[in-house]
Amino acid sequence: MFPRDFAWGAGTAAYQIEGGWQADGKGPSIWDTFCHESGNVFGEQNGDVAGNSYELWEKDLECIQLLGLTHYRLSLSWARLLPDGTTRHVNQKGVQYYNKVIDDLLACNVSPTVTLYHFDLPQALQDQGGWKSPGIAALFDNYAKFCFQTFGDRVKLWITINEPHVCAKLGHEDGLHAPGLKEKGTAAYLVGHNMLRAHATAWHSYSSVYRPEQKGAVSLALNSDWLEPSQQGCKEDVAATERDLAFTLGWFAWPVFVTGDYPEIMRSAIDAQSRKLGHSGASRLPRFSNDDPTILGTADFFALNYYTSRKVKSGGGCGQTLCMKSDRDAEEVLDSSWPICGASWLAVAPDGLRKLLKYIKDTFKNPAVYVTENGFSQVGLLQIEDVQRCEFYKETIMEMATAIQEDGVDVRGYFAWSLMDNFEWADGYSVRFGLFHVDFSDSKRSRTIYRSGREYARIISKYKSGQSK
Ligand code: BGC
Repeated sequence: MFPRDFAWGAGTAAYQIEGGWQADGKGPSIWDTFCHESGNVFGEQNGDVAGNSYELWEKDLECIQLLGLTHYRLSLSWARLLPDGTTRHVNQKGVQYYNKVIDDLLACNVSPTVTLYHFDLPQALQDQGGWKSPGIAALFDNYAKFCFQTFGDRVKLWITINEPHVCAKLGHEDGLHAPGLKEKGTAAYLVGHNMLRAHATAWHSYSSVYRPEQKGAVSLALNSDWLEPSQQGCKEDVAATERDLAFTLGWFAWPVFVTGDYPEIMRSAIDAQSRKLGHSGASRLPRFSNDDPTILGTADFFALNYYTSRKVKSGGGCGQTLCMKSDRDAEEVLDSSWPICGASWLAVAPDGLRKLLKYIKDTFKNPAVYVTENGFSQVGLLQIEDVQRCEFYKETIMEMATAIQEDGVDVRGYFAWSLMDNFEWADGYSVRFGLFHVDFSDSKRSRTIYRSGREYARIISKYKSGQSK
């Protein structure tokens, strides 16, 4: 059912699991700062210790082996490697830590899949303007080159930036993520633009300098819900859905996979709204210049983070002020047949993954796809025997198999989110995505496999051994 060499993985991110926020010379990141300011995170929680993977990595490795993973997706903490964000000062202890993680994985026959940036910008770079500053692209490129140089002999799958959409919107428009800016209708577009420039610069560096020898593949991880019109056949809803997809997935996938530039409907919607509100001057959606790297073609595969689905109708905005919501002019609603599980945004719709994969095949020129995140959380009373999550994983993986077999989508791998319970950003530890439970009240942070972890292990062993193509 799955191609030979299919990657069976699970993922984590540095800030969500490592802890050791000041250990051995690590510099602060924007998430350290954000969490230490009151009122930003559920229960004033933070990732200071989290799952303490910085000290307990061997325990994570045991979990990885218990699941039988072929791949493990981790992210590097930029500020652990380069405390002030620049290569002027390298923290050797940080290098040692990731060297050990990578070597241990390989010794256990598990391929490391490495994300360079998963939301945790060094605070020192935020102090210089962060992702809003055009200079960030060169700084990111230096960091990326440092990582390719240091770890690229052993890492063959790289993600430059995780979810630029989330970083841009939640961090700079909604203020719900670090750095907590609420500069509505402007900053997010600028941040997205600089993230694309940074990603593309690093991809070109890899391609020209490291790829010939290291022979790996590089992409960026894009999140998208599956979106469909609230009423099929209603022209306004169909158009709103198209706009909504352009503002989420298209914003980044269109430039990288289709044209080298933003989707036209995104630009025209933003510019129309600017005119309506009397906002003069240049388009709020920046333009790529001749000095920028070529954006088109800077992905060796499509990395998709899929969680949930939405129905879409037109409307929804913020009145007379500029904001992305008004630009998008699309309102997302839930279908009553989708159960809400865990986090309030997470409606369970496994077939959305199949539909989205088909859409990606048709829209983005049939790329090789890795589902780099997919999962389902628990909130409140935690069940180790989490039967519902077992069903979710079974159904979702079957939908993915159908996308491969019947729709001909070139899916190469699947990474469950997440290996273990972790710091779920603004929700702190109240939302649990792990295949392993972590006891955050225990200083040893003991890990216990959930039933869904056992289920995923069973699925992996079934398909790994019966792989054919
Ligand atoms: C992020 C993860 C996060 C997950 C669940 C994704 O947006 O990449 O870091 O934990 O969703 O919310």
